[in-house]
Amino acid sequence: MKYIYTSIASIFLFVQLTSAQQVNQQEYYKKGMVVSAHPEASKVGLEILKKGGNAIDAAVAVQFALAVVYPNAGNIGGGGFMVYRSAKGEIASLDYREKAPGLASRDMYLDSTGNPIIKKSLLGHMAAGVPGTVDGMVKAHKKYGKLNWKEVVQPSVDLAAKGFPITKKQSGELNRIKATFLRYNPAGVAFVKQDGQWKEGDLLIQKELAHTFELIRDKGRAGFYDGEVADYMVKEMNRGEGIISKKDLADYDSKWRTPITGNYKNYKIITMPPSSSGGIALVQLLHSVEPFPMKKWGHNQDSTIRLIVEAERRVYADRATHLGDPDFYKVPQKQLLDPQYQRQRMSDLDWNRATPSSEISAGKLAPKESEETTHYSIVDKDGNAVSITTTLNSAYGAMVVVQGAGFILNNEMDDFSVKPGSPNKYGLVGGEANSIAPGKRMLSSMTPTIIEDKGKLFMVVGTPGGSTIITSVFQTILNVIEFGQSMQEAVTSKRFHHQWLPDEVNPETGAFSDAIQQKLTEKGYKLAPRTSIGRVDAILNTSKGYQGGADPRGDDTAMGW
Ligand code: GLY
Repeated sequence: MKYIYTSIASIFLFVQLTSAQQVNQQEYYKKGMVVSAHPEASKVGLEILKKGGNAIDAAVAVQFALAVVYPNAGNIGGGGFMVYRSAKGEIASLDYREKAPGLASRDMYLDSTGNPIIKKSLLGHMAAGVPGTVDGMVKAHKKYGKLNWKEVVQPSVDLAAKGFPITKKQSGELNRIKATFLRYNPAGVAFVKQDGQWKEGDLLIQKELAHTFELIRDKGRAGFYDGEVADYMVKEMNRGEGIISKKDLADYDSKWRTPITGNYKNYKIITMPPSSSGGIALVQLLHSVEPFPMKKWGHNQDSTIRLIVEAERRVYADRATHLGDPDFYKVPQKQLLDPQYQRQRMSDLDWNRATPSSEISAGKLAPKESEETTHYSIVDKDGNAVSITTTLNSAYGAMVVVQGAGFILNNEMDDFSVKPGSPNKYGLVGGEANSIAPGKRMLSSMTPTIIEDKGKLFMVVGTPGGSTIITSVFQTILNVIEFGQSMQEAVTSKRFHHQWLPDEVNPETGAFSDAIQQKLTEKGYKLAPRTSIGRVDAILNTSKGYQGGADPRGDDTAMGW
């Protein structure tokens, strides 16, 4: 076991961080900005930008750094989506979502009586899809990167080898999940402190992961999908009941796809196409609310909330039925993105009562999704922008750490409809479009998004949050465009969520005043509050410079120069 930990509170590293121009979030920066879920990852991205790297160089460095410093969602054992806009306005999106292994089958998570075995798609080796992150980063860097590949990978080698000081939130989390990690990794892992409890400022050192990053640094794609790491992966599969093969690894291919584009008023929305549902759903939501005077009604006021809830209800009903991996299923994209279609969907909105979800469609319910994912937004000095959401699915994915290679495997297979047309443990089912098939990508809600205003970069935005991702991105955009909030205010503002089924509105604690709660209840809205929704990390391009919005719900940090 090649890991070490130490409880030396690393004052040295904290001092470095403070001097790295951590952003006072009311300030503006002209030369670039990085907003991510962890201060060490934001720092790595900013250093790459300062060295002359562009937004893609910084994105690769941040993706890999998050795999070290934010192991609950940052990853190389998972996947994600990238939306890119160059300073000249060229747009691209990269799908590096995990794929079902070749031995996957439609009924692989069902027992002999045809019922879902819930844990099998969530915990342990069988839950993992073929990771896409390393291939995605290699591909993005090859096309757009400016710095040498080794330069952008090296910070992650260093962070893993030398360690980084964990935050207070992280120490609590790692202490909480110790037993689960040991159950799935009896030989021990870097994340488990053998003697006593983790505390804020302890250094987390990951020697095996550092070696994996050395291989990726020196061999690129082959350093992960071939050779030593591929051997470790297959050995790990044999240790559990996993089915990822050498061929699956060799065959994995991330894909450039045409971004979804749409308009909201004068703004152009550039967002992620399937295999994420996020982009289409976001544009549908914006089309739904566009004709209504939300600005006049006000932020989180009665009519605004009801309009948004009714839009969300209708859009999530479509999502459950019509969206899946476009390589396997013909998504009716054109129709869904037609503003007229959305106007028609909203035409039965009844201001006297909540529309019961059962009246919207008798169709299938939305699949359950984990809320543990992570997003980061980057702009470089030339104005190139990257919006990336990346995930292992649940926190720490399948809880399996590949022995010898030190990275955590995703449990993304659970994002498929394990049993199309039939409710799972949580009373949720998905459609045929998202059934399991070898080589297929599981449907996602991740919504990395870039917005233009009159042909100029306006906003870079995204969030984790499973099915709440789409509604959080949607409301953050409205907070700026409709309600005039700064980027930080828009990110901090309380959010709420509705996803058609279950037929309930989920406001964050304190999102609605007592009077508004009463009005909503009188009209038939069922309120089911949540403590926290999403962790939005965003950048706004203003006439004074870039303004960051780092979500105070997490350790998220905006840094600029
Ligand atoms: N695993 C969460 C998502 O992809 O939406």
